[in-house]
Amino acid sequence: MTIRRFARREMLFSAMTAATLAACPRSASAQPDVAVAALNNRARARGLFYGAAVSNDMLVKDPGTMARIAAECGMVVAESSFKWADLHPKSGQYDFTRSDALMDWAISHNIRVRGHTLVWHEGNPDWLAGALAEGGGAKLMREHIRAVAGRYAGRLAHWDVVNEAINPVDKQQHGLRATPWLKALGPSYIDIAFNAVAEADPAALRVLNEFGVDYALDWQEGRRVALLKLLGDMLKRGVPVQAVGLQAHLDASITQLDQTILSRFVNDITSMGLKVIVTELDVRDDRLPADIASRDIAVASHARAWLDAVLPNPAVLGVLSWGITDRRSWLNDIFPRPDGLPQRALPLDADLNRKRLWAALADSLDAAPGRVSAG
Ligand code: XIL
Repeated sequence: MTIRRFARREMLFSAMTAATLAACPRSASAQPDVAVAALNNRARARGLFYGAAVSNDMLVKDPGTMARIAAECGMVVAESSFKWADLHPKSGQYDFTRSDALMDWAISHNIRVRGHTLVWHEGNPDWLAGALAEGGGAKLMREHIRAVAGRYAGRLAHWDVVNEAINPVDKQQHGLRATPWLKALGPSYIDIAFNAVAEADPAALRVLNEFGVDYALDWQEGRRVALLKLLGDMLKRGVPVQAVGLQAHLDASITQLDQTILSRFVNDITSMGLKVIVTELDVRDDRLPADIASRDIAVASHARAWLDAVLPNPAVLGVLSWGITDRRSWLNDIFPRPDGLPQRALPLDADLNRKRLWAALADSLDAAPGRVSAG
């Protein structure tokens, strides 16, 4: 059933992608294909948005990429500049240089910004674990949130309040991940974080961001169950969570993409009254053969199948990819291809031309039912 559905989708996909790509020149020109509507324009026509993650290096050193981001995106998110290690390098000492620079760029380009992330087990300064172990973690968390979310209050579209909270294999209470925050504060660390953001910046949509809920694999089913339970419990306790971020770090070599399971899962979230945002889309290809054309087809059709299961839900607000060009993807750092070639994980190639993945996004956004824009 899964395989057959997927294959039919792929055929449908090929026909539509061919049409979109035909309208999409592929030469490495300095002025890429501006005549074909950019992703955010297509998204907006459906009441959605499209955006991408920006690294500080990109912002400072790569005007070519930033021009493409300005052209394609309605929202940006910092790859690192809003994380603890960047913002709060020493106890009681903040450095807003990089986060302010992204805010300034975005405001001057009329592009919205999402904040990522306030509470996570990674991206933290070395001093934090020690400080948490000494006690006073709730005060520390509240202070950080007051300083950071307070500084940008009214200027951010969303906050990823807590990132990657669940991990049932850690065998903690409620399927929660064993993190320094859980250890210091127990499960209530999540409630403290959401309440603090609601106070510091009531206008920003409060998001619980999560990965590894995409496939019909047993371990991912366990994560879906844990996430739904956590959300239900949070809402019962009156915790002011408003949306779920699906990171969508996909892997083109995984065949267990079941659109029925995926769309039911998204529906289970939105039936609770929550919104959904696709926050970090990219597609690993490190287990595929080197040939670029076939990798591009596999990556694009994989993303298309995933997006087509998710975007029809009217409570989905938009899609961001984790980067925009194959010039820079975190995947090359954590999952390097054995042949050393760069991954083809993102919508634009290293010359900033639109790839099949761009077309897959365009087609899926075009095919999404219209909705009233809500975030
Ligand atoms: C990654 C960044 O891309 C890297 O540059 C950084 O060193 C580590 O974090 N899920 C997340 C993101 O929520 O914050 C991660 O970003 C990628 C996985």
